[in-house]
Amino acid sequence: MSEKVRVLIDEKAVDEKIAELGKKISEDYAGKQVHLICVLKGGVFFMCELAKRISVPVTMDFMSVSSYGAGTKSSGVVKIVKDLDESIEGKDVLVVEDIVDSGRTLSYLLEILEQRHPNSLHLCTMLDKPERRVTNVKVDYTAFNIPDEFVVGYGLDYDQRYRNLPYIGVVELD
Ligand code: IMP
Ligand code: MG
Repeated sequence: MSEKVRVLIDEKAVDEKIAELGKKISEDYAGKQVHLICVLKGGVFFMCELAKRISVPVTMDFMSVSSYGAGTKSSGVVKIVKDLDESIEGKDVLVVEDIVDSGRTLSYLLEILEQRHPNSLHLCTMLDKPERRVTNVKVDYTAFNIPDEFVVGYGLDYDQRYRNLPYIGVVELD
């Protein structure tokens, strides 16, 4: 059995969309400084590209979470594996994620961050699978809505591989 990756969203389309989002975020945060929080590891490629397209002052921090629970389903109970280096109190925080699937991880994470009293807290995701949602999460910026398929690339992995692909693809076994 071999594995192939079928292109779902090509590099040009992703890059153009990120530039568009960066422009929109720059307008929405005019006169402010935006504090980007990258959820490792999947969000890292998207956050770097997005940050380059934002024209208001940007600061960045990183956190890593894992969800308790067996298998591929996230349980919604999030363990902070690496916490932020800096306080977010009073800051205009924008969480940058690779994908919102069931929404469990994000809704829990946003709750934790809200308790730290940022001035504002918003969410930007590269991909959204709205069909899969089980928890209500308010997504403020989305690059692409996608169907319920397992995707890789641009930070997303399949067993830790394919994160470095410059496009979004679907793994096919044949
Ligand atoms: P949620 O709590 O179900 O929203 O979990 C979202 C997390 O599951 C994401 O941050 C990804 O790490 C992972 N995930 C969900 N769908 C995919 C996919 O299609 N490809 C790769 N990882 C995914
Ligand atoms: Mg993620």
